[in-house]
Amino acid sequence: MNDSKRMIDLRSDTVTRPSEGMRKAIARAPVGDDVLGDDPTVKELEARMAAMFGKEAALYVPSGTMSNTLAVLSQTRPGDEMICDKNCHIFNYEAAATAVIGGVQLNTLDGNRGVLPFDDLVAAVRPINIHHPRTSLIEVENTHNRAGGSIYPYDELERVSRFARESGLRLHMDGARLANAVVGSGISFEKYASLADSVTFCFSKGLGAPVGSILVSDAEVIERARFWRKRLGGGMRQAGILAAACLYALDNNIDRLAEDHENAGRIAKVIDSSSRAKLVFPVETNIIIFEVVDKSDSIEKVREELEAEGILTLTFGNRMRMVTHLDVSSEDTDVVVEVLSRILSQAR
Ligand SMILES: Cc1ncc(COP(=O)(O)O)c(C=O)c1O
Repeated sequence: MNDSKRMIDLRSDTVTRPSEGMRKAIARAPVGDDVLGDDPTVKELEARMAAMFGKEAALYVPSGTMSNTLAVLSQTRPGDEMICDKNCHIFNYEAAATAVIGGVQLNTLDGNRGVLPFDDLVAAVRPINIHHPRTSLIEVENTHNRAGGSIYPYDELERVSRFARESGLRLHMDGARLANAVVGSGISFEKYASLADSVTFCFSKGLGAPVGSILVSDAEVIERARFWRKRLGGGMRQAGILAAACLYALDNNIDRLAEDHENAGRIAKVIDSSSRAKLVFPVETNIIIFEVVDKSDSIEKVREELEAEGILTLTFGNRMRMVTHLDVSSEDTDVVVEVLSRILSQAR
């Protein structure tokens, strides 16, 4: 993007760029060939993440999509079925990787802001019968992207987890933004992870690292995932320069997510008090999703009006998404609040 006119970029928390401090950490990182198992910085990151999540092992991978895909491939067989929410990232935005690569069918439930309806979940598990796929995995997303960054209520998660264990099913948590859930709820990474058999966690969203995600699980799953990562071309050599950015992000960028949540809350208030637009979901973390009230109005028009004033956003269907992050300061939020108030109070 051309920096001559500075834009406030609310399209996603993936747009952050490495800070000076992070770049220094990258420059200093000791590295080795990680495919051969001797990159010390990757090893440090994996050990730290396994400990932080209370799991046996962790695997550093290029993206959240790869982490989720490896989690599914390593805990299912072709012809199995995974139960998930119909708005989850895996079902909507991962190019059907689990179906194409793993031969895994998804059974999607109509969740309430990403929360699996418990009775439907119980009913969705297939009895063993030669006509049926074998249900082997349940997936939850926390925080939930398409449900406006909502935090999966802990008691609901516990219920799903207990059910999965009683039924001999595995539970995967797409925690790409689990740090936002931790900061928003005060519940630790370890406590959340104790409910799932595997967790995906991303460094390249709110935490501001340029590349990378981690899969944490038991040693056997991570061993299988390591094979799959190599098979899919995700084995990286001197990946320590990337892992160093992730370690820096863990030390410096988790607690500050509270600022992103506060900024998102301020923007949400503007929408809440406008007659032109309404929030689709309450804002709990750093994602705001809203729509225009009047059917003759257009969300695309709002997007263009914001862009003309230097504010970038994303639209999907009749909805707009704004995401606050490390590169959106409180002063930037003042500008967004002022511009958005003006635009949403204009006659159409
Ligand atoms: C909830 C969730 N899971 C997984 C991903 C995939 O991450 P990546 O873009 O690194 O593949 C995303 C990306 O936005 C996401 O929001």
